[in-house]
Amino acid sequence: MSHATLIDGKAFAERLRASIATRVAKLKADKGITPGLAVVLVGNNPASEVYVKNKAKQTVEVGMQSFEFRMPETTTEAELLAKVEELNNDPKVHGILVQLPLPKHLHENLIINSINPNKDVDGFHTVNAGRLATGTPTLVPCTPLGCMMLLKDYFGKKNPSNKPLSGLHAVIIGRSNIVGKPIAQLLLKEDCTVTIVHSKTKDIEALVSMGDIVIAAVGQAELVKHHWLKKGAVVIDVGINRIGQPDGKMKLVGDVDFHDCLTTAAAITPVPGGVGPMTIACLLENTLQAASAT
Ligand code: GUN
Repeated sequence: MSHATLIDGKAFAERLRASIATRVAKLKADKGITPGLAVVLVGNNPASEVYVKNKAKQTVEVGMQSFEFRMPETTTEAELLAKVEELNNDPKVHGILVQLPLPKHLHENLIINSINPNKDVDGFHTVNAGRLATGTPTLVPCTPLGCMMLLKDYFGKKNPSNKPLSGLHAVIIGRSNIVGKPIAQLLLKEDCTVTIVHSKTKDIEALVSMGDIVIAAVGQAELVKHHWLKKGAVVIDVGINRIGQPDGKMKLVGDVDFHDCLTTAAAITPVPGGVGPMTIACLLENTLQAASAT
């Protein structure tokens, strides 16, 4: 029985961070610029605390400056807007990330759109979404960027051309602004045929089974089964779901039933160790891009 190749995002992210560290050192030596990333965390969501700690650690490891701002759950919109404005005007800060989700009384769109688009290293600003949709150079959301790097690396080894994904049919499960929609734009730019399926789609399985590439980003644990896939599909699993096991322990799983799909897929990203580690590495890449553009 055939067995899928594992796409090792952890190893890829390590190599990417090493490359970023080299380029950061060069930017310092050539132009005297040390890239700076500011992360703003409002409230104390435990998952966000973990993300923010990892981001700060990896930022410093590649030679960048990390600025961390913790604001209380009770922060007002005016206070948060004032903090963003201060960071917009700070020349040591090249990238600004406001950790999501925000407490319910704060309007995420309003806050994100108050960030200088050229410092928006999440690529969530409406201006950057528009640039991406029109094929204008821009800061690209980190998780989609990480997925594209893994896909281009995998297909590039089989088809060493400028556009190794050209003509492939990619099916994206999920239509979020932060993953599904930007990935669709990036795949179109690589000349893929793109289908997006979502919660109201009729006969999802039939559409997914047409995909040479399947990208799962819906937040439903182990949704995708082997019989959904075309034989030889390349599967990118963006999901991070915590599920309880019979022994009471919690386990991290993706949106793809990993073990079930190993016999059908040609290649697949594991969870953890697939897309996840790429996201922070791409945040650092975006911060370096933002600093290089100043
Ligand atoms: N929360 C979880 N992931 C992310 C991310 O990539 N960016 C922001 N701003 N918040 C997040």
